[in-house]
Amino acid sequence: MEDWSARQYLKFEDERTRPPRDLLAQVPLQRPRRVVDLGCGPGNSTELLVERFPQSEVIGLDSSPDMLRKAREQLPNCKFVAADIATWKPGPATDLIFGNAVMQWLPDHPAIMRRLLEAMPQGGVLAIQMPDNTREPALVFQREVGDSGPWRDDPEIKAAARDHLPPPEAYYDLLKPICAHIDIWHTVYNHVMATPQAITEWFKGSSLQPFLSPLDAAAREKFLAAYTEKIVRAYQPRFDGKVLLRFPRLFIVAVR
Ligand SMILES: C[S@@+](CC[C@H](N)C(=O)[O-])C[C@H]1O[C@@H](n2cnc3c(N)ncnc32)[C@H](O)[C@@H]1O
Repeated sequence: MEDWSARQYLKFEDERTRPPRDLLAQVPLQRPRRVVDLGCGPGNSTELLVERFPQSEVIGLDSSPDMLRKAREQLPNCKFVAADIATWKPGPATDLIFGNAVMQWLPDHPAIMRRLLEAMPQGGVLAIQMPDNTREPALVFQREVGDSGPWRDDPEIKAAARDHLPPPEAYYDLLKPICAHIDIWHTVYNHVMATPQAITEWFKGSSLQPFLSPLDAAAREKFLAAYTEKIVRAYQPRFDGKVLLRFPRLFIVAVR
């Protein structure tokens, strides 16, 4: 995966910080010893963890140097580490592993979640939130534009789209055998966007990145123009000119 742009991601900071708030509200812990924020990004989810657990050691982990730089600026007293979740192992006393909007990028994330949970102490919590929006028009159009332009044979573009998430039942069958308790739910947000073009801006900070990063500047412009044309047609303005971005997300809170 190409490096992420912290600045682009933070353009919609309020909306992007709502799901980690909703996830954290369901974490049944009072005073975890060590908390790890997997895929901490620019530190917005880490900041929530520090506020909720001021007595705990909170560590942010990410593979992107740009995100880590921004996170360290934002929370100078926090520890941040560069690592790949695919191979990372929790240290002792890790009572909470929190992963907001990151696991969907790891194709074998169900197996990784199970491995992480297995390594946790009894009573430890694995709390995960992932966009479950691959069937939404905004994501379908990314695949359509990827499949139709001069870039369509580029192997990176071919691999750019995320797979659909497995259904809740699959996570239940995989995780419940090693859990005392598991809570799985969906929330569908309807984010108010100033214009349809703002939807393009939103996804430039996330799922459009793997489509755009292999392209040169001119091809990126073409890709974004073709994508935005589809968005404008599909996301109709409301009475005040704004548009609603429907955004389903899957939440899992598993207690070891
Ligand atoms: C969409 S951002 C989420 C940021 C933050 N957790 C939040 O709640 O807004 C996803 C982050 O996961 C990181 N990431 C993606 N794959 C990763 C991996 N395999 N290992 C570590 N970090 C990863 C990206 O660099 C990015 O900062």
